[in-house]
Formats: sequence, C-alpha cells, structure tokens
Amino acid sequence: MKKYKRHLITAALPYANGPVHIGHLAGVYIPGDIYSRYLRLKGEDIIYVCGSDEHGVPITIKARQDGVSPQQIVDQYHQMNKDSFQDFGIEFDIYHRTSDPTHHETASGFFKTLYEREEFIEKESEQYYDPEAKQFLADRYITGTCPKCSYDKAYGDQCEQCGSSLAATDLINPKSSISGSKPVLKKTKHWYLPLEKYEGFLKKWILEENKHWKSNVYGQCKSWLDGGLEARAVTRDLNWGIPVPVEGAEGKVLYVWFDAPIGYISATKDLTDKWEDYWKKDDTRLIHFIGKDNIVFHCIIFPAMLKAEGSYVLPENVPANEFLNLEGDKISTSRNWAVWLHEYLEEFIDKQDVLRYVLCANAPEAKDNDFTWKDFQARNNNELVAILGNFVNRTLVLTHKYFGGTVPQASEANEYDLKVLNSISGYRDRVEGHLDHFRFREALKEAMNLARLGNKHLADSEPWKVIKTDTERVKSILYTSLQITANLAALIEPFLPFSSEKLSGFLNMGKVDWKDIGQPDLLKVGHVIAQPELLFEKIEDETIQIQLDKLEKSKKMNEMAESGIPDAKGEISYDEFSKMDIRIARILSAERVPKTDKLIKMELDTGIDKRTVISGIAEHYKPEDLPGKLVTILANLAPRKIRGIESHGMVLLAEDSSGKLIFVSPVDKTGEGSVVL
Ligand code: 2FM
Ligand code: ZN
Repeated sequence: MKKYKRHLITAALPYANGPVHIGHLAGVYIPGDIYSRYLRLKGEDIIYVCGSDEHGVPITIKARQDGVSPQQIVDQYHQMNKDSFQDFGIEFDIYHRTSDPTHHETASGFFKTLYEREEFIEKESEQYYDPEAKQFLADRYITGTCPKCSYDKAYGDQCEQCGSSLAATDLINPKSSISGSKPVLKKTKHWYLPLEKYEGFLKKWILEENKHWKSNVYGQCKSWLDGGLEARAVTRDLNWGIPVPVEGAEGKVLYVWFDAPIGYISATKDLTDKWEDYWKKDDTRLIHFIGKDNIVFHCIIFPAMLKAEGSYVLPENVPANEFLNLEGDKISTSRNWAVWLHEYLEEFIDKQDVLRYVLCANAPEAKDNDFTWKDFQARNNNELVAILGNFVNRTLVLTHKYFGGTVPQASEANEYDLKVLNSISGYRDRVEGHLDHFRFREALKEAMNLARLGNKHLADSEPWKVIKTDTERVKSILYTSLQITANLAALIEPFLPFSSEKLSGFLNMGKVDWKDIGQPDLLKVGHVIAQPELLFEKIEDETIQIQLDKLEKSKKMNEMAESGIPDAKGEISYDEFSKMDIRIARILSAERVPKTDKLIKMELDTGIDKRTVISGIAEHYKPEDLPGKLVTILANLAPRKIRGIESHGMVLLAEDSSGKLIFVSPVDKTGEGSVVL
C-alpha cells in the first residue's frame, strides 16, 4: 500500500433542515468517528471535517412549511446538530457550514475557474415555471399524479407511493406547491458539467485502480459508468444558495450538489493554514464517509469536478454504508419515524456509548439493517453490562477486596495467565486489521472478545475460591485481569470513548497509545486504582416501552394524516379561548345568496340580538329545511362583507371524512342564547 503522510477524513454534510437521527449516525458519523479516533491514537496526522449543508431545495421547503426564512432554519438546525454531535462524542476537528463566507468564496471561485477554462456547456432547456409565484419550480415543488401508479400526491422527482424516480414533466395534472397553480414550461439557461468527458478517466480510476473499494460502492459506480454518463446541470433557478458568479446568471444559484462537497475544502481552509497540504499533496489520503444515496456524488461527480480543476487529490476510499431501518420500517423525517439524536441525548443521560455500541454492532455495512429498541436493550444488558461491565467490575472489586486496590505482584503466574497476557496484542492487531478495511462491526466484536477472554480467565481461575488457600496465586490471577482491563480501556476508545475515559479513571490511568496496547504491564505493580463504579447499567423494560409508545404515537399520527384527518393545532392559552363568544342560536329564515353555488344567508336569533350570517353550506343543506334549527355560532367574530352582504359571526360546522358539512348543534334541550363554556 502507498505510504501516506496525512489523512483527511470527511463525513457527509447533513442538511440543516432537521435534526440528525440514528440512520445518519450508523451510516456516516459513527464509522467516521471511530476511524478518526483510531488514526489519532496511532499518532497519525489526521483531520476529521464536517459541517452543515445549508443550501438546496429541502431547506427552502422546510422554511416555507414553518413560515420562517431559510436563514432561520439553517441557523436553528446548524446549532442543534453541532451541539448534538459534540455531546455524542463525535470528535470533528471542525463543524463548518456552507453559509459561511469562506465557503461562498471557495465554491464561487471553483465555479469561476472551471467557467474560465470553458469546462462547462451552456444550454437552454424548458423547465416548469409558476406564473403566479413568478418563479421556476424545483422538481420537489411540483406535485401531480404518478404516471406509474396513479398516486395523486407524487413529487416531480419521485413518487413516494411506488418509489419510481420521475421527471416533473412525467406528472399528470402537475400543480405548483407554492401557489397551487398549473405550471407552464418556460425556457431557461443553465451551465452543465459534461460528465461524458470524464468517463474514460473515471472508468480507469474506479474500475481498474479502485478495486479495493467496498463492493456496494464499486458496484453502484460500475452501473453508473456502464450506463454512460451525461452532462449534468450545476446551476439552478432558485433564490437560496450561492449566486452563479458570471454575467447573465441573475436569479440563479449553484446547484447544492456542486457547492456541498466543496464544503469539505472550505471547512479545511477555516481549520488550518496548511489546508493545501491536505487537499493538494498527493501523499494525503482522502476518505469520504457517506451513506449509499451519496455514492454517485462522491465517486463520480465530485471527482470529475476535482479532475476538471486539476490541483486537488481524489478520494482514496469512499466507505459508504447502506441504510438503517427502524422497527422494520424506513426511517422518515416527514413521518417522524426516527430516533432523533437530540432527543436520545435528553432521555438517555450519560448513555452515549450504549447507542454508539448498538449502532456500530448493527451497522448497515453490507446491507440495509434494522434498529429495534428490544435489540438496543438486549445488547446493553447482555453485552455491555454482562460481558464488558461485568468483567471490569469483578476485577476492580476483587482487587479492592483482597489487595486494598493495589496492583499485586504476579509471582505465581501460571501458563494460563502468561498465555492470556501474551495474547492481548493479537486482539489489537485484529481490531486494527478490521478497522484498516472499514469493518467496524468486526472490529468492535474483536475488542469485546478481549473482555470475553477476561471473563473466561476469571471464571476458570476462580480467585474467590483460591483466596482461601493461596493468596499468592490470586495475586497473579488479578494481575492478569487488571492488565486486560487496562488494555481494554485503550482498545475500546475509538468505539466507546466515554466508557474508555471512565474506565481509565477507575484505573487511575492516563491515555495509552495505540501501539502500546498489548503490553502485559500497562499497570505497574504497586499502582493504586480508584474506587470502582459501574461502567454500564441495566436498561429496564419500562424505559424501552416509553420509546415504543413514542413510535406507536407516530404511527397513529401517520395513519390519521393518510386518512385525511387534519393534524392537531398548536396549544392555546385559556385566555385566548375565553375571548371567544360561542353561543347557541336559532335559524329564523334562510335563502340562497344569488349567483353563488355555496352561500346561504341566514337570519339568526342569538338570544341577545337578531343578526345576519352568511355560511358556505348550500351544497349540503336546502334553505327551506333550515328555519327552526339550533346551531352553534362564534358570535364575536369581526363582521365581514361577503358578496356585498355583511355577515356577523360564523356558524360552526364539522366536516366528516367524505367532506360533508354538518351543523354543530346541541343534543340536549337548550335554546337560543345559551353560552358555550
Ligand atoms: O444527503 C445529504 O444529506 C447531503 N446533505 C450530503 C452532502 S455531502 C457533501 F457533499 F457535502
Ligand atoms: Zn407512483
């Protein structure tokens, strides 16, 4: 293998339009963190960079949904995700953001360089335009009927019912989500990166020189390359993003997938003056940690951009993971089907390592995997508590009980003890071998095997029995256990950094270099350890049930949303409620409002006055059937003129699932003038 001087590790920049969830963690941030910690422990020159992806259509959609500006959205989620990553022990050297001026300059400069070298093709095409909102529409902003399955809420880029990828022009009855109007096709100019120009280079680089890539990554790249590459637009008609820095591009921004990966470069620039060493010297090893949906961007498009620019290194590896599901179902932000990191951190205080452990042990390395709360509980109770925690606890408690917390002299070490002590470095070597090949699940299993060995050695040697007859022998047994414990503290650091620190504290021990793992005398004879505490706690059924109930609630909300029942509105105060004058009124007379389909004018007796109210019920009630009926009205709603008639108040109606409007009427004997409390 080529000798590298420094490592630049990147983790996909999460969109700042929502919180981070377990799928992100298992696929990208935990493996990236384990790998970076491992390299740091080895004393390598390494930086781990990440940040928020703050441009693109998803941000603008979220802003529109929440009724705030895109800037407010990215400010909110950038801070939230930055804090959650830090609390979870993801040790980025920098957590940058793509709204940062350094990034705007870098991405803009990158585009300009390629533009000046005439690397782009300028092309006009027809795209959907909303004539009412006066703007071009990103595919996500168009809905309509799916041509494949007839689902009537398909998006312009994808149908969520049948999963087909669509083009906006495929949709039947397209509708703009911004104004609700029918979009029209209109000509617009964009800049395209001619990927076909790089096909030869990419084929040689990936298919011949990168055979060491994971098979899921290699396979996806191969199928893209076999299918033939085409020019891709790198600009968009959108009012949120990095303005296209050339003349004649007003109202256009860089495509988010053009600017986002350049974010790795901007982050490095703001981290260190030596950023060019990491990006431009070919003894840098660049590794991108990503999820499988990002493969084409990191393995084909970004490398083509870097190649076109010419002065940057290309990734040596892109260890992309598959997807993590939750309780058998796809993780989904819109359906709130997720375990959100910020909520986990609030609800499971000091249990970062439990989630880190479960998500690594069950990482979707080669295929999609499932996270279940029962498995989370089982892995905590049966593995962290019963194997690692139990071994450490027995070792520390017995050392205190028999030797006052002092590391004893091993003068009666037998062959078994020596064999065990000599085998420790082998665990480190095997963990290392797995990590070097991005096999994180195997690496973690191997680290846990050292705890298993410790348990077996203790159980076989039975110091609690031997102490009755042979104290010297027990000294050798516990000396062995203590050395395993000390080595474990170092070996688990990349995976379980909080527990590693805690365990080092129990042992009164400083940080151990990776190369020193395996030494049979990390703790010297006579060294005094601290009072032990539990490393892990059992997780009870009730704790798990709370999480399952939360998911059940999401499921119910989704079912209601699908059945057309509107979401609950936000809470209001009693004061707000008490401002409403709701009372019962009797209909005295009713007639259709001329030249309207829906409106009926009614005279009502409210008990305090007689008044006129207009209501949109003509499709549901005949005027002649209404006199005499009792209805509920909001009496103090400000008067409104409807079709020239002043309406004083509003008749309350319920809409059933078929869309029929029904009066909200008292069922018990009550008359006009009764007040609703
Ligand atoms: O898929 C995503 O969440 C993107 N925001 C990832 C961007 S990675 C990189 F290119 F910045
Ligand atoms: Zn469909």
